[in-house]
Amino acid sequence: MGLLNLKLIRSKQRFVDYRDYIPFEETIEGAKQSNLSVGDYIDAKHNKPGATQDTIDEMTKLGVFAEKIDRVCEIGPGSGRYLDKVLQLCHPSYCEVYETAEDWKNWLVQQYDLIAQPTDGKSLSSTPSESIDLIQAHKVLPGQPSLITFRYFTEMARVVNKGGKIVFDIVTEECFDDATLENWLATGRGYQHYPALMSKQFTIDFFARRNCAFVGSFFIPMKPGKTECMVFAKK
Ligand SMILES: C[S@@+](CC[C@H](N)C(=O)[O-])C[C@H]1O[C@@H](n2cnc3c(N)ncnc32)[C@H](O)[C@@H]1O
Repeated sequence: MGLLNLKLIRSKQRFVDYRDYIPFEETIEGAKQSNLSVGDYIDAKHNKPGATQDTIDEMTKLGVFAEKIDRVCEIGPGSGRYLDKVLQLCHPSYCEVYETAEDWKNWLVQQYDLIAQPTDGKSLSSTPSESIDLIQAHKVLPGQPSLITFRYFTEMARVVNKGGKIVFDIVTEECFDDATLENWLATGRGYQHYPALMSKQFTIDFFARRNCAFVGSFFIPMKPGKTECMVFAKK
């Protein structure tokens, strides 16, 4: 190669998940057969019926939608069951997603007017700083190793506008006890690193150091346990 003055360069790395998200075709077909929307079908089959709407209702109570939300970003939307409700509530002029599952990403692009950003599984590198009014991630961070979660935390604090909201759920110590651990061990359920524990106080302090104030939190089921959904506002 040297003689020809050529150099081998590794192409840009793409995030490869070692365990795929729920199967695309089976899920779309299952929803059709059950006469349910894809979101309601996933709630019923993989979580608790109504859990997505409960999350949106709790976000509303914490003031997430109190001011105009014009630019939305979601990490790991999957089927878009949360995004769908946010779009209906806020009618933003701009929406983008970072999604690692190709089939679900393509489906989202077909269903909604949104941009699928190149996704490396740890950054929001195509998003300018302070450009987003709502950045959210649901049931994504409980599957990530802590360093990936901290990278995403840093990125969320960077891309959100002053006054904008950050919403995500994590498995805090308040979601965990011996009985819950036994359930996880006994059922062997899980996806990626579910249920990766993350300290609540460390998370609150981490965002405080980045000018993002803790607004509040609530619990949401993530079978066979639960997660704590946290809301922050950038000052
Ligand atoms: C458990 S699913 C949750 C999907 C959706 N938020 C929901 O609750 O229905 C996790 C989603 O995040 C995506 N994902 C997994 N690891 C990711 C990463 N490191 N960065 C971005 N997306 C990721 C998966 O492809 C999947 O769509």
